[in-house]
Amino acid sequence: MSTAAPVNSSLAYLNGAWKPLPECVVPVNTHALQYGTGCFEGIRGYFDGTRVNLLFLREHFERLHRNAGMLLMKPPSVDEMVAIAREVVARNAFKANVYLRPVVYKSGTSLGPVLLNVPDGFMCYAQLLGDYLDTSKGLEVCVSSWMRIPDNTIPARTKATGGYLNSALAKSEAVMNGYDEAIFLNSRDQVCEGSAENIFIIREGTLHTPDRTADILEGITRKAILSLAKDLGIPTVERAIARTELYLADEIFLVGTGCQVSWVKTVDRRVVGTGARGALTTRIQQAYEDAVYGRNPAYGSWLMPV
Ligand SMILES: Cc1ncc(COP(=O)(O)O)c(C=O)c1O
Repeated sequence: MSTAAPVNSSLAYLNGAWKPLPECVVPVNTHALQYGTGCFEGIRGYFDGTRVNLLFLREHFERLHRNAGMLLMKPPSVDEMVAIAREVVARNAFKANVYLRPVVYKSGTSLGPVLLNVPDGFMCYAQLLGDYLDTSKGLEVCVSSWMRIPDNTIPARTKATGGYLNSALAKSEAVMNGYDEAIFLNSRDQVCEGSAENIFIIREGTLHTPDRTADILEGITRKAILSLAKDLGIPTVERAIARTELYLADEIFLVGTGCQVSWVKTVDRRVVGTGARGALTTRIQQAYEDAVYGRNPAYGSWLMPV
């Protein structure tokens, strides 16, 4: 992959100023650094050979705006954040797949873990990103010994920066034990999500995914996959999923902005289905790729060209 500007010195936005990424620095006593008081998004841009198309750009900023409000932060308006994100891509003239990271955060330096009367900041930068997880080979995943953060502790649906310590603990444990990824159970011992992905299982021709009260992040890719599946005539259900259903599933795949659609080969060393990528997973993965690379005009509204 190549870019017009080396990515480490790409231009980024920090609180009203455009600077090379290494110069976008914050004081060490920044509230968000001390207490994890931020919330963020991860947004992909797909290069179609001519231009970068940002996937679900407005949807990401609508989610960020709602989540920031829930966390008592005041972000720029959705329109302003959309414009800044587009400018990040335009200013750097990327000619490859990119990943945008906008963050709303408590930029004040006052002492004490309180969200009130602490100034807010906003940043947005970009980096190149190919596959986050290998989407061709089947993933070897484990059920994590770490529980997903319940909604009334650090709500996973807010995509709060501090909540990602929970993800980091689970992912690190998985990697240390030789797995590619971790699957969380929630406080009800039901299947929840991966460290940075939502999960789908296929049983008897139906797609199942934990419902929105399962302590998941309400993933934008999850929603897109549910609508793609309906368009493909694949029945879907959102419901509580028991741990051992992972061992009985015919197919399992993870979805997210980063991992896109990644199929799972084993769970806790038990082979899923035939051990090969399943037929429904393959259809969904193909349909998703066609949509994000702009090859299917029916999903043109998913993309915002820059
Ligand atoms: C914990 C978690 N779940 C699910 C997802 C997938 O969400 P989305 O499809 O909106 O990227 C992410 C994305 O990074 C995540 O961090």
